[in-house]
Amino acid sequence: MASSHLPLLFLISISFLSVSFTERCHPNDKNTLLQIKKDLNDPYFLISWDPKTDCCDHWYVVKCDDKTNRITEFVLAQTDLHLPIPAAIGDLPYLQDLTIHACNATGKIPQAISKLSQLNFLDLRQNLLTGPVPSFLGNLKKLTYIGLSRNSLTGSIPPSLSQLPELSGLLLDRNNLTGGIPESFADFKQKSFYLYMSHNQLFGPIPRRLGYTNFTFLDVSRNKLEGDVSFMFGKNKSMNTADFSRNLLQFNLSKVEFSENLQNLNLNHNKILGSIPAGLTNINLSSMNVSYNRLCGRIPVGGRLQDFDYTAYFHNRCLCGRPLPECKF
Ligand SMILES: *[C@@H]1O[C@H](CO)[C@@H](O)[C@H](O)[C@H]1NC(C)=O
Ligand SMILES: *[C@@H]1O[C@H](CO)[C@@H](O)[C@H](O)[C@H]1NC(C)=O
Ligand SMILES: *[C@@H]1O[C@H](CO)[C@@H](O)[C@H](O)[C@H]1NC(C)=O
Ligand SMILES: *[C@@H]1O[C@H](CO)[C@@H](O)[C@H](O)[C@H]1NC(C)=O
Ligand SMILES: *[C@@H]1O[C@H](CO)[C@@H](O)[C@H](O)[C@H]1NC(C)=O
Ligand SMILES: *[C@@H]1O[C@H](CO)[C@@H](O)[C@H](O)[C@H]1NC(C)=O
Ligand SMILES: *[C@@H]1O[C@H](CO)[C@@H](O)[C@H](O)[C@H]1NC(C)=O
Repeated sequence: MASSHLPLLFLISISFLSVSFTERCHPNDKNTLLQIKKDLNDPYFLISWDPKTDCCDHWYVVKCDDKTNRITEFVLAQTDLHLPIPAAIGDLPYLQDLTIHACNATGKIPQAISKLSQLNFLDLRQNLLTGPVPSFLGNLKKLTYIGLSRNSLTGSIPPSLSQLPELSGLLLDRNNLTGGIPESFADFKQKSFYLYMSHNQLFGPIPRRLGYTNFTFLDVSRNKLEGDVSFMFGKNKSMNTADFSRNLLQFNLSKVEFSENLQNLNLNHNKILGSIPAGLTNINLSSMNVSYNRLCGRIPVGGRLQDFDYTAYFHNRCLCGRPLPECKF
C-alpha cells in the first residue's frame, strides 16, 4: 500500500518545490498586480493573472524584466474600463512603460504616478481623464514621452515639464487646457522635439524664447494664440512641420525666412498680413496652407508653390496669380 503511493507523493513534493523555487515574480509586484486586478473589478481581460502562477511568465498586459524579474511594463489598449486608473500602479517601482490607451479611464491622473521614478514612457491618450496635467510629471526625470491627447484635462500647462532632460515628445492635444504656452518650454534641450497642443483653449502670445528650441514637429492649431510667430521660422531652424492654423496670430509674413528643413507649413485661419515671401520657392514643401488670412500680392512663381490647389491660398485680402486668378496690376 505505502509503496504504491510513493511516486505520487514524490511528484507532489517535486511540483511544490518547482513552484516555490522557480517563481521569478517579485512578491511585492505580485501583490500590487493582484490589488490592481481587484481595483479593476476582476475583469475578464486579466483572467491570466492567477495568483497560483508566475506573473513573469503567464500574465497579460505586464512585462517582467529578464534580469531583475521586476515588472517594467504595463500596456493596456482598447479595453473598456470606465474606471479610474488604480492608485496601486504607483507601487510598481520598476515600471518604465505605463500605457493605458483608448480605455475610457476616468478620474484624475493619480498622484501615485509620482512614485514611478523609473518611468520612461507615459501614454494615457484617448481616455476620459479630467483634472490638471500634474506638475509632478516634471520630477520623473527619465520620461522621454508624455502622451495625454484626447482627454478632458483642464487648467494650464505646468512649466515644470521643461525640467525633463530626456523628454522629446509631449502630446497634450485635444483637451481643454487654458493659459499660455510656458516660457520655460524654451529650456527643452533635445536635438529634436515633438510638441502637440492643438484643440485646446490656449491663449496669449507664443513666448519669443521658444524660437531657440529645436522643434521638429510643432502643432498648436485650434487655440486662441495671438501675436507674432515669425521668430519660430528662420534659415537655421530644424522644424519639419509647423501647424499654427486656426488661431488669432497677426504678423507680417513678407520678410519671414524659412529653413530648407520645413516640409509642412499650415497657417490657415489667422490674421496674417503682408505677402508670400519669394524665399518659399526655395523650400521643398510637401504641404502648405495660408488660406483665410489677410495676405496680399502676387504668389511667387517657383518651387512647389504652384503645385498646391487654390484652396491653399483662398480667402485672403488680395492674393493673386497661379493657382489663384491672375493679378489685375
Ligand atoms: C468607450 O466608451 C464609449 C461610450 O461608452 C464606447 O462607445 C467605446 O466603445 C468605449 N471604448 C472602448 C475601447 O471600449
Ligand atoms: C471642453 O469644455 C467645453 C465647455 O465646458 C465642453 O463643451 C467640451 O466638451 C470640453 N471638451 C473636452 C475635450 O473636454
Ligand atoms: C539644436 O540643434 C543643433 C544641431 O542640430 C544644436 O547645435 C543646438 O545646440 C541645438 N539647440 C538646442 C537648444 O538644443
Ligand atoms: C539660429 O541663429 C540665431 C542667430 O543667427 C541663433 O541665435 C539661434 O540660436 C539659432 N537657432 C537655432 C535653433 O539653432
Ligand atoms: C509688410 O512688410 C512689408 C515689407 O516690410 C511692407 O512693405 C508692407 O507694407 C507690410 N504690410 C503690412 C500690411 O503691414
Ligand atoms: C522634395 O521632396 C520630395 C519628397 O518629399 C522628394 O521626392 C524630392 O526629391 C525632393 N526634391 C528636391 C529638389 O529636393
Ligand atoms: C486649406 O485650409 C482650408 C481651411 O481649413 C481648407 O478648406 C482647404 O481645403 C485647405 N487646402 C489645402 C490645399 O490644404
